Amino acid sequence: MDQDQLKRLVAEAARDAVLALAPGQVLGIGTGSTANWFIDVLAPHKAHFSGVVSSSVASTQRLLKHGFYVIDANQVETLPAYVDGADEIDPSGHMIKGGGGALTREKIVASLAKQFICICDDSKQVATLGRFPLPLEVIPLSEASVSRAMQALGGTPRLRLMAGTSDPFVTDNGGWIIDVAGLTISDPVALESKINQIPGVITVGLFARQKADVLFVGGATGVKRVDFS
Ligand code: A5P
Repeated sequence: MDQDQLKRLVAEAARDAVLALAPGQVLGIGTGSTANWFIDVLAPHKAHFSGVVSSSVASTQRLLKHGFYVIDANQVETLPAYVDGADEIDPSGHMIKGGGGALTREKIVASLAKQFICICDDSKQVATLGRFPLPLEVIPLSEASVSRAMQALGGTPRLRLMAGTSDPFVTDNGGWIIDVAGLTISDPVALESKINQIPGVITVGLFARQKADVLFVGGATGVKRVDFS
């Protein structure tokens, strides 16, 4: 099975899980290639939900194309579930996210949800987070000072550029992304709190204080469900 087939399988497993929720609620939707599969396989069942809250402009466009009713996060107090992919996930459900640059909105929408359902293939499972460079969304003015602070923490920061250019990648919120390589994240909760204190950091792509509750992970033997909480 190739990675795309695995993404589809985990998306279908998450679809079945959210269709077991009481109908008429609003669902949180993530961003990325796995979340795209989830949107596509959920589309025929969109009437089960009164609407969805999206975590990026890209996901909103895809949802609207399928005819979902997309609601602003400011209009909901709570969501029964948020479904999204991850760049890495550890055995406790802590994640690195933000490979697609949508980490800030992802964290906001996830924070509204009672349950974070993570969907990924087993290449994303790691014993310790940090092989994938940790994305930080920052205020552009703070790029140099945040980079120095991350060097002091033992990382190797690099400003993310738009593919094929020397221009910074700009997020949906007007922020820049610094990808920090070389961190071995043995205490994700502590590191998330520490990086949150650095002036100019909008969001760190560590989802540790709020981690996954459920994981659907795809591998050679099919889809496995892991419950963390
Ligand atoms: C988007 O900013 C990310 O957090 C994605 O959720 C994450 O990168 C997983 O993406 P894929 O499903 O494309 O691997």
